[in-house]
Amino acid sequence: MTDATPSADGQTLTVRDDRTGKEYVLPIVDGTIRASDLGKIRVSDDEPGIASYDPGFTNTASTRSAVTYIDGEKGILEYRGYPIEQLAEKSSFLEVAYLLINGDLPSKEQYDSWVHDITFHTFVHENIKSLMQGFRYDAHPMGMLLSAVGGLSTFYPEARNIHDADTRHLQIVRMIAKMPTLGAWSFRHAQGKPYVYPDNDLSYAENFLAMLFKMSETKYEADPRLVKALEVLFILHADHEQNCSTNAVRSVGSSQVDPYSAVSAGIAALYGPLHGGANEAVLKMLRRIGDVSNVPAFIEGVKAGNERLMGFGHRVYKNYDPRATIIKKATDDVFEVTGVNPLLKIAVELEKIALEDEYFVKRKLYPNVDFYSGLIYEALQFPPEMFTVLFAIPRTAGWLAQWLELVNDPEQKIARPKQIYTGERGLVFPASSERWA
Ligand code: CMC
Repeated sequence: MTDATPSADGQTLTVRDDRTGKEYVLPIVDGTIRASDLGKIRVSDDEPGIASYDPGFTNTASTRSAVTYIDGEKGILEYRGYPIEQLAEKSSFLEVAYLLINGDLPSKEQYDSWVHDITFHTFVHENIKSLMQGFRYDAHPMGMLLSAVGGLSTFYPEARNIHDADTRHLQIVRMIAKMPTLGAWSFRHAQGKPYVYPDNDLSYAENFLAMLFKMSETKYEADPRLVKALEVLFILHADHEQNCSTNAVRSVGSSQVDPYSAVSAGIAALYGPLHGGANEAVLKMLRRIGDVSNVPAFIEGVKAGNERLMGFGHRVYKNYDPRATIIKKATDDVFEVTGVNPLLKIAVELEKIALEDEYFVKRKLYPNVDFYSGLIYEALQFPPEMFTVLFAIPRTAGWLAQWLELVNDPEQKIARPKQIYTGERGLVFPASSERWA
């Protein structure tokens, strides 16, 4: 029996249900079958159809997307079709943000107006500053950032009107503009230093460095090599298709909530050690190893399953993460200014041993973006708690590009996965007098 319309390119999957003997022909489009077609395979009309079980969405496409392309086997990453290597070398972060959001590179006029708009939205309401000042002296900056971004939604109630293109655009500009301000203030807070207001004469990355490190000088001047390194790091982190935090933004955004709330969900997801928090974990790991001579014993511990080699492995990349290659090169540029981080030696030795070891080779475990980024951040004098903040600032461009795509996608619905229920059914509630007797 044919139970679904064949695909435009004629490819199909024939499934035989051994319970009923029926055959179903499911269209294959872009290498996928529709989960709703599986739902048509059922024993009887009053029973639910077949569903797929996929914890962690390891083999489930949740959207069509034209933002970012990854070929994990070959180690390819492209934003809107442009290879990451070329963007890192030739572009600026704000140009990449424009590309991600708008789908195309800007003309000179579009670029100037984009940079102008972002620059003149960097200030935040004074009450957001008070909100941030209300945190404890030792608050994790990522917790502060996620609260502040969620809080912004209350300052821009019109952001709820997600069906209006101009309103959406304004929130996108505001969020990309204000992230460095909020990120820098979360950093200053922990140090008990006064928050520094944005300086609209500076570029995006320079302004961020000024808000982080400026003291009594009238004008903060960052080393151009460090500014360039930060731009590159921002470009590398700007998007990464349907990762955990992007999926969080899309999932929360599918309820049609405002984009500040959706992005704060992304920040929360990025906070976790298996996602954005991995570079902090890498540094802790390197410090614990302590010396190159301890690397072999550490690797044995990983292979015995006692712990993971942080900064290695990726759900998608089964080859060297292309971002790791670029970051490894950027470490040289940064260390030229700051002096070499002594942990680098341990990292290089770990990488060397792991890349030759059967355990890692067999599982296709290679260094990911987080393996070297922590070393650079530390050399730039960021404490580990700031690493995820440094990730969240550029990723906001990607989250918003993905959110925009979601809002404009007529196929998208509120995210609502199925479950396989494993609990009890129909129990009789015993009175407390019986239970506690
Ligand atoms: N060290 C040792 N073994 C590992 C590692 C690792 N870092 N990563 C995976 N494995 C092993 C794992 O034990 C499993 O082995 P086995 O088949 O014998 O059970 C196999 O490799 C597959 O691992 P998995 O956990 O099923 O793979 P996953 O796709 O679910 O996990 C990952 C991906 C990134 C969570 C994982 O590789 C990991 O925990 N890495 C360390 C944390 C890390 O560096 N995270 C940053 C990711 S990149 C930044 C980002 O995009 O957010």
